[in-house]
Amino acid sequence: MIRTRLIATAASAPDQVITNDDLSKIVDTSDEWITQRTGIRERHISSGENTSVLVTDVASQLLHRASVSPENIDLIIVASVTPDYGTPSLACMVQKEIGAANAVAFDIVAACSGFMFALSIADKYIKSGVYKNAIVIGGETLSKIIDWKDRSTCVLFGDGAGGAYVERSEEAGIICEDIGSCGEQYDILTEGYVPCSNVFNEVPSGIHPEWYVHMDGREVFKFATKNVIKSMQKVMAEEGLTEADIKYIVPHQANVRIVEVISRKLNIPYGKFYMNMEQYGNTSSASIPIALNELNEKGLIARGDKIIMSGFGGGMTWGTMLIVW
Ligand code: UT7
Repeated sequence: MIRTRLIATAASAPDQVITNDDLSKIVDTSDEWITQRTGIRERHISSGENTSVLVTDVASQLLHRASVSPENIDLIIVASVTPDYGTPSLACMVQKEIGAANAVAFDIVAACSGFMFALSIADKYIKSGVYKNAIVIGGETLSKIIDWKDRSTCVLFGDGAGGAYVERSEEAGIICEDIGSCGEQYDILTEGYVPCSNVFNEVPSGIHPEWYVHMDGREVFKFATKNVIKSMQKVMAEEGLTEADIKYIVPHQANVRIVEVISRKLNIPYGKFYMNMEQYGNTSSASIPIALNELNEKGLIARGDKIIMSGFGGGMTWGTMLIVW
């Protein structure tokens, strides 16, 4: 059977690290509140690097790690809610920077589920025989769409990018998935609103308040636990798996308390959930591939291991994938 196999992973983050104590100097918060409510201690924040810089770094590392020439790349998909431009896409910017002249390149938007959606698309192209390989990246500079005066959101997010080089394989790879959307609840997590202003309908100048991240944290928490649990159950049932068959679960790195609920309700040991939100915060579409890359770099996964990745986010959306490494 033809599968899409993850051959190499990579990640990139700005050098600048902002701690919870740093944030307590600009908003009314504390290390204690942030750590207890979220599990986050620090995050990487851009000193000017835009998203294209981070995703290009990931793509260059992937080429090197997979020993692939840029002209042999068929497809580049980048998931992001914080691209440099409306157009060109980040994927086309990556294409230029790495010299992948023969690739088809485009971006997708599925917020924190973005990497899962992008990987799902690459999988379909590869399984159908249209393309034989792809670079799939999630990358964000969320710091540019955060209201740094709003303590309820600014403590949660970070900047970064992560991705994978995937290839047609007959041995292992993506086994099954469950992706979904609930547009009905779109307004519980929004960002980047641009009002329709033109010469015939002028709106006040300056940044519109809805440009920033707005989130009903409690509703998102409920959405996440309900849908990630259902989605993981569905994927495991489809393959007849129990938790004993799974080496690691790589969840979206939003909040350790969300992971605690999922672990408890699914009766899966907490230690099987790989987390690094303590150092990165929530990097939206980048969070799962950054964590997956860390697992890989630490040598914690071996070929043949079964891994579940599961994300949720704006839209609202969710996406779960079972892979054999
Ligand atoms: O990828 C996107 C996914 N997003 C998420 O996964 C977010 C999901 N939701 C959450 O993770 C949690 O809801 C939050 C971490 C966002 C908030 O935690 P919470 O336990 O739901 O807190 P809360 O919003 O109910 O706020 C509790 C209190 C409030 O004060 P009062 O009304 O009880 O006096 C807030 O004003 O905490 C206050 N608060 C803060 N205090 C200190 C909110 N933010 C802060 C802060 N520092 N940064």
